[in-house]
Amino acid sequence: MKQASIIVAITGASGSAYALRLIQRLSQAHIFQHILLSDAARVVLQQEQQLTLPEDAASTTQALAQYLTKYHVQDRVQHHGHDLNITPDSIRCYGLKDWFSPTASGSAGIQRMIIVPCSMGTLARIACGASDNLIERAADVMMKEQRQLIIVPRETPLSSIHLENMLKLSRLGVHIMPAMPGFYHHPQSVDDIIDFMVDRMLDHLEITNSKAQRWGA
Ligand SMILES: Cc1cc2nc3c(=O)[nH]c(=O)nc-3n(C[C@H](O)[C@H](O)[C@H](O)COP(=O)(O)O)c2cc1C
Repeated sequence: MKQASIIVAITGASGSAYALRLIQRLSQAHIFQHILLSDAARVVLQQEQQLTLPEDAASTTQALAQYLTKYHVQDRVQHHGHDLNITPDSIRCYGLKDWFSPTASGSAGIQRMIIVPCSMGTLARIACGASDNLIERAADVMMKEQRQLIIVPRETPLSSIHLENMLKLSRLGVHIMPAMPGFYHHPQSVDDIIDFMVDRMLDHLEITNSKAQRWGA
């Protein structure tokens, strides 16, 4: 078991850029990440980022690490002079039916999971305990073990079904953190908007983040 590792699950909602930026920032904080991607997430990554990932998990790890090392070279983190070198030592992707992955069992001891962005489909399946793929199973494990599960849902408008599912999960202790960036810090670019959300995610994951813009600071 990697100490203090985090599960980052990416599903087929819009906003794949949030996930890519979060993985970069967690890698910079030297947090090992278990990465789970739904089939629809791969479609969205291709549509939004023009990123086509290979099918098998090992090649996906390689391809994602390579892409993220170069992604957004204008990232303000790099302006601060930090190198970004993401390797298969920083992240590992698993197949959706890899039940032997550490993410599939509470005994592996992973304490934190974030699903970003989270589709309404995955949200619904987690809310009813489906556990039919590794993302749903890992979320189920987090809840049954009473560990931290953060969900970053993205859809608009929201139906009563969506809202009820979120309320149900919230009452079970899941952090519902919708992809709703604020504009009170006067973002100048899409990057600024992405960073606003990712800074909030890092806060909730309790990752030290001195670069976040803070109200009243
Ligand atoms: C480009 C694109 C954007 C999408 N955006 C959303 C979205 O914002 N929210 C959502 O719930 N579903 C969205 N969908 C639909 C989901 O991908 C679809 O419901 C899928 O079955 C979700 O599967 P998953 O939960 O296994 O990832 C989008 C699909 C595509 C192709």
